[in-house]
Amino acid sequence: MLRIVVLVSGGGTNLQAIIDGIADGSITNTELAGVISNNKTVKSLERARAAGIFAECVSPKDYESRELFNDALLEKVDELQPDLIVLAGFLVKVPPRMVERYSGRIINIHPSLIPSFCGVGYYGLKVHEKALERGVKVTGATVHFVTEGMDEGPIIAQKPVPVEEGDTPETLQRRVMEQAEWILLPRAIDDIANDRVRIVDGRVVRG
Ligand code: GRF
Repeated sequence: MLRIVVLVSGGGTNLQAIIDGIADGSITNTELAGVISNNKTVKSLERARAAGIFAECVSPKDYESRELFNDALLEKVDELQPDLIVLAGFLVKVPPRMVERYSGRIINIHPSLIPSFCGVGYYGLKVHEKALERGVKVTGATVHFVTEGMDEGPIIAQKPVPVEEGDTPETLQRRVMEQAEWILLPRAIDDIANDRVRIVDGRVVRG
């Protein structure tokens, strides 16, 4: 059984896709041990608690420094003893110590086809604004392992999504979520839980 901990910052629709995937059996061999948010007011914590899952907030606002917050976050994650940490719309830079300790055991969902529209400053609606500004005709989402560099880790899966005439950042974000993110992330977790992906020479291979 793969024990996962999900880190969130916002609405938690990706978290919901994971909860639903475990409930309906499309994600197998997986147990959701807990959800941690950096933000007290978010819907994600409600979603987790409604599903009977341990959910807690660790907010940078409650700590005097980033170091102390990082320590508290890592401590909370450690307590839950995850095999895999899933960043599902987590807008905080993952503490380097966490990346080190959980090397090859942290994944992230990013709402573009990496290496386009990713890296520092590309988060949330910004990603879709930039894609529209550039006039790309296809965008999508990427699930990847997390390494020190922002959005630079080995890519597990990607899915393209068409940009349509008249799209706004909001309509494009919604389409990318519906057509890519909510499918890709649960599938990647199922693949990891069932040993279907491995990292070889910095790249993900299947089988
Ligand atoms: C998603 O677009 C995800 O790719 C990005 O942040 C958004 C989070 O949405 N990193 P939600 O909280 O899962 O609804």
